Amino acid sequence: MRVLGIAGSPRWGGNTDLLLEEVLKGAASKGAEVKTVVLNRLRIAPCQHCDACLETGCCKVRDDMQGVYDELEWADRIVLAAPIHFMGISAQMKVMIDRCQCLWARKYVLKVPPLGDDRPRKGLFVSVGGTKYRNVFTGARQVVKSLFTVLNIEYAGELLFEGIDEKGAITRHPDALKQAFEAGEMLVGE
Ligand SMILES: Cc1cc2nc3c(=O)[nH]c(=O)nc-3n(C[C@H](O)[C@H](O)[C@H](O)COP(=O)(O)O)c2cc1C
Repeated sequence: MRVLGIAGSPRWGGNTDLLLEEVLKGAASKGAEVKTVVLNRLRIAPCQHCDACLETGCCKVRDDMQGVYDELEWADRIVLAAPIHFMGISAQMKVMIDRCQCLWARKYVLKVPPLGDDRPRKGLFVSVGGTKYRNVFTGARQVVKSLFTVLNIEYAGELLFEGIDEKGAITRHPDALKQAFEAGEMLVGE
């Protein structure tokens, strides 16, 4: 069982990173092979809507996203971890998601499996917002669900924590890290 964590915060060691780390520890404790991709360390351009992928199923922009496609194909379980920025998913994560347009083209235009094969994949969404605004996770959840649907990844759950703002504040939550560890165990046990 191969688990890929994708970190979408600009703040390394921040709240979503800490949660992601626990999810992956939980998965590893059940024997999974785990890997993390830190988007903020990569150079990924936004989708240019050139439509080249409609013919090839591949993105012609040669940047670090090419490695992320390989990791997505490699994984059986995918954990997207990103904070809320302006009521939506962080820009780092959104750019990565938009670059999955070529995988959309594989599925809906070229009629081939978006991730190269049809093995069952599952995904978990992890997010943190600094406020407790109503609907603070609604936009981000919709974006992640849309990606998972396109990639044939079952939405296996979410870990969402509101009112967590300063770096590391998640460690003072009564049981968030424990919940994250258990979610990792469950994700690979399912
Ligand atoms: C540019 C920016 C925009 C933000 N917008 C929101 C927001 O709309 N709603 C909210 O609840 N928190 C917002 N926050 C706060 C972050 O969600 C919060 O600090 C979170 O804990 C950061 O997680 P991280 O440590 O994983 O980066 C924003 C933070 C930044 C830097």
